[in-house]
Amino acid sequence: MTLLAGIDIGGTKCAVSLGIQTDDQVRIIAKRRFLTLASSDSTIERLVSDLEELLHEHAAEGPIRAIGISCGGPLNSKAGIILSPPNLPGWSRVDIIRPFRERFGVPVALQNDANACALAEWQWGAGRGSRNMIFLTFGTGMGAGLILDGKLYSGASDMAGEVGHIRLEPTGPMGYGKIGSFEGFCSGGGIAELGRMMANQMFAEGKHPSFCPTPAGIAAITAEAIGEAAQRGETDALLIFQEVAYNLGRGLAILVDILNPDCIVIGSIYRRQQAILEPIIWEELRCEALPHSLSVCKVLPAELKDNVGDFAGLSVAMHQLLNEGSLA
Ligand code: BGC
Ligand code: NA
Repeated sequence: MTLLAGIDIGGTKCAVSLGIQTDDQVRIIAKRRFLTLASSDSTIERLVSDLEELLHEHAAEGPIRAIGISCGGPLNSKAGIILSPPNLPGWSRVDIIRPFRERFGVPVALQNDANACALAEWQWGAGRGSRNMIFLTFGTGMGAGLILDGKLYSGASDMAGEVGHIRLEPTGPMGYGKIGSFEGFCSGGGIAELGRMMANQMFAEGKHPSFCPTPAGIAAITAEAIGEAAQRGETDALLIFQEVAYNLGRGLAILVDILNPDCIVIGSIYRRQQAILEPIIWEELRCEALPHSLSVCKVLPAELKDNVGDFAGLSVAMHQLLNEGSLA
């Protein structure tokens, strides 16, 4: 039994969790969650003090062995530095490992959130048993974690899997600082922007989309509201998800052609909107990707559900111990 801590730093929420790892399982025994604070310093202070309190409350479980941190990139995982993630405005060159190492005196590892989720889904979720797996976040941002030939692939400067930056169309919503990018179409922010684009156009024609009855509501359109409208079968919202699905399919086809995965696991929005998205992505995949690659590839929703972020940090902690050879 090994007590591990997972830290998940997201654009909207942060979480600290404690997990007990046994054989091929992990059990989350405690968790704290809060909205990401305005400055990186105050966010880090809060993460450290929350972890301190959790460890105090669960002192009976024994000492903690490692801490894993999962955060959106770009980052330098070896140096433990968060560089300048598009979804964490104001965070720039943040040394995230040091405060945890100084306070807790155990191995601390940092990993890109998509990479960390890939490790978690590979270890404990939908990707179990896969040798070549791609995990896509499809939440606030769009990032990929690549497990290739049974190993996490990080690239020459830790930037492998920054698929959100790929441009799919010359026009379209903005994501990762680029118009028409994979993150532009396939992320919470991108879906909201598609909603605003549709609303602006419809109001100009004297109409309105079902998810936004008055022009005053345009600025407040969210991906969640469009998602709920799509679930209710409302045409305008469905049109948006069709466009998202089409672009998700194109993005997937590129990844399938390059990497020949046996499995693609997609988180967050895909899990919630699978019924709408799945048929369209497959149509697009069949159109765009090589049949010999496609015939061996499954596309699955993430299994660790909304807890994937907690498992992500814990899997980073576990992999740190495995890499150091200090976990049997
Ligand atoms: C970041 C990626 C991250 C993804 C998901 C992107 O905006 O650049 O590093 O994996 O969002 O959070
Ligand atoms: Na990545």
